[in-house]
Amino acid sequence: MKENCPSATALRVAMRRAAHQMMDEPKVFDDPLALSILGMENEPAPQSWQTPLERGLRAFLAARSRYAEDELHSAVKRGVRQYIVLGAGLDTFAYRNPYTEELLHVFEVDHPATQVWKRERLEEAGIPIPETLTFSPVDFETQTLEEGLQRAGFDSGKCTFFSWLGVTQYLTSSTVIATLRFVASMPAGSGIVFDYTVAPSLLNPTARLVFDSLAHRVASAGEPFQSSFDPSLLKDSLNDMGFGQIEDLGPGDMNARYFKGYPDKFRSGGFTHVMNARI
Ligand SMILES: C[S@@+](CC[C@H](N)C(=O)[O-])C[C@H]1O[C@@H](n2cnc3c(N)ncnc32)[C@H](O)[C@@H]1O
Repeated sequence: MKENCPSATALRVAMRRAAHQMMDEPKVFDDPLALSILGMENEPAPQSWQTPLERGLRAFLAARSRYAEDELHSAVKRGVRQYIVLGAGLDTFAYRNPYTEELLHVFEVDHPATQVWKRERLEEAGIPIPETLTFSPVDFETQTLEEGLQRAGFDSGKCTFFSWLGVTQYLTSSTVIATLRFVASMPAGSGIVFDYTVAPSLLNPTARLVFDSLAHRVASAGEPFQSSFDPSLLKDSLNDMGFGQIEDLGPGDMNARYFKGYPDKFRSGGFTHVMNARI
């Protein structure tokens, strides 16, 4: 990320979630705050977002958020009461948390500059900060997640669910692995859903083209991709860390789960996988 600047990619992702609310029916991910956090309630849907690349990207972003919240739902049902949103960007879960009766506490962890900007956005949009939310500013590259969460009052003895969406790509692989090791140290029943870029050398030519195009775009925004993984080696590493149940979902798995029967070309694209790992 550019020094002292909020994440530009966080804004881009949030705009696509907002576009999903306006442009796609039926919605894969229903987010009633996606438009208001951006002040876009009265804006028309940008027609430039009807290209196949944009539709595919939007589909993937909607599906990964939906998947994380579906898995959170299962986690809450099995007794998890802490949810950590890593690299939260403009994610709105904490402001529409449906698990207040279960006393689910949410910690939003993000780069300090992005978090300051998000709090300004929330204020401008008139979205109140609930008592069930704690902000935890952390730069993953220079601080440990453990210290950041401790400062925020996180209870490391409690079962916890983590999501980490659209973030690992922008971190070095050693930071990604160190952070996953911390998650692996949580009590049994805890888990994480995160997405990651598949090593470009393993991609088919179409996925490689999409990857190259997006890599160029995010680098121009000052947030170049920094890590990518071989899915089977990453699964082995998670296993070695102590994760038991590990599920790696590629584009085909996400399509089968969320896009059966959808109109042509609204399908999640090719080079990112979603990993679900439980301790
Ligand atoms: C593409 S956005 C994704 C935001 C959010 N998870 C979503 O799905 O809307 C990337 C996020 O990673 C965060 N990020 C990038 N580098 C970071 C770092 N070194 N430390 C903490 N957060 C970082 C950014 O602040 C931003 O919120």
